[in-house]
Amino acid sequence: MHRLTNRQILLGITGGIAAYKSAELTRLLKKAGADVRVVMTPAAAEFITPLTLQALSGHQVHLELLDPEAEAGMGHIELAKWADLVLIAPASADFIARMTAGMGNDLLTTLCLATDAPICLAPAMNQAMWRDTATQTNLATVVQRGIKLFGPAEGEQACGDTGPGRMLEPEQLAQLAAEQFETRSLSGKTVFITAGPTREPIDPVRFISNHSSGKMGFALAQAAVDAGARVKLISGPVNISAPPRVELVKVETAEQMLAASLDGIATCDLFIGAAAVADYKPVAVAEHKIKKGNEEIMELRLVKNPDIIATIAAQAAPPFTVGFAAETRDLLNYARSKLTRKQLDMIIANDVSQPGIGFNSDENLVTLVTTDTQETLPQCSKQQLARQLIEKIASTMNAAQDKV
Ligand code: C5P
Repeated sequence: MHRLTNRQILLGITGGIAAYKSAELTRLLKKAGADVRVVMTPAAAEFITPLTLQALSGHQVHLELLDPEAEAGMGHIELAKWADLVLIAPASADFIARMTAGMGNDLLTTLCLATDAPICLAPAMNQAMWRDTATQTNLATVVQRGIKLFGPAEGEQACGDTGPGRMLEPEQLAQLAAEQFETRSLSGKTVFITAGPTREPIDPVRFISNHSSGKMGFALAQAAVDAGARVKLISGPVNISAPPRVELVKVETAEQMLAASLDGIATCDLFIGAAAVADYKPVAVAEHKIKKGNEEIMELRLVKNPDIIATIAAQAAPPFTVGFAAETRDLLNYARSKLTRKQLDMIIANDVSQPGIGFNSDENLVTLVTTDTQETLPQCSKQQLARQLIEKIASTMNAAQDKV
């Protein structure tokens, strides 16, 4: 279910008694971290009130195609583009027929025409309507177009009949929605990711560190697991918990981060350095707390830390190595020089001088740089960005390996 975190789900509700279950479905999708926008057909609004769905989704429900107020908020084309997934539950026989015909005679059918997002239908209807040749022919057509069917289940129906046509339960639908976001692009690969800050002790109570939250590295770990990889996440001290199915190795100093990164490096296919490693550490760590003296100026001698990612990239058979370049000026030039100097395969450059992105924030805007390519991705949440980055990294890495 964690795959639903920050996913944008457009939930379409059409007219059927199962519409009451869509309230629970909305709650479950929200609980799993998805952002849910609800679109109802006029018939759906006869079965369940838009107000219920508005309260559960936290957004105004979209009801009509030609509503100037709703269009001023988020217009239908914008809504179609916004969606990562369109889930229609319940999908009535009438709705499926209109969709099969490619009609755009209400908001929901129009959105289905306009969206590039995957569409999933959870049919719900009387068993005889389900079995009808017209419905079955329509379903075969939409399935051929790539639309997914969730269910229906068989059993007792609201009308008293028994047979196929019951909508799947909300838990099953939420689970199936989550599964749509699983990719296999890193299937069978081992990925090491460094994340968070390092802490370089000065004395037993003080250290040198930075503001890195670890959010980007943790989001990358999640996305890599979802893409089928085995993931070791090597993290400095952070306040977030590791995603499920990730091996978390907690470290404090750059030296410890390097040791954990080298441990098992021969098995690693992809190394992503998302940690903000302290460049320098105190030459010596005082055994006891350093006391305040009379001097106005106190000097701390520092020595360079090992460069973890450069050490990884310099291995005899290095993994595909991806670094980050957080800069406040001259972003791409610095990024390119790091790519070359550290012998990386790819560098993800982000401008940390801009408020609202980068360090400690929830969003990020980055440019992907390789020796011969450069691509800026649109600003989005770190989770969404992580998924895009993993897909881009996986395709670049697989293409590079195919060339060898
Ligand atoms: O040189 P700079 O710190 O800007 O390089 C950033 C990239 O190098 C990041 O991917 C970071 O995780 C990695 N790095 C490292 N070890 C260091 C310094 C940076 O792995 N000592």
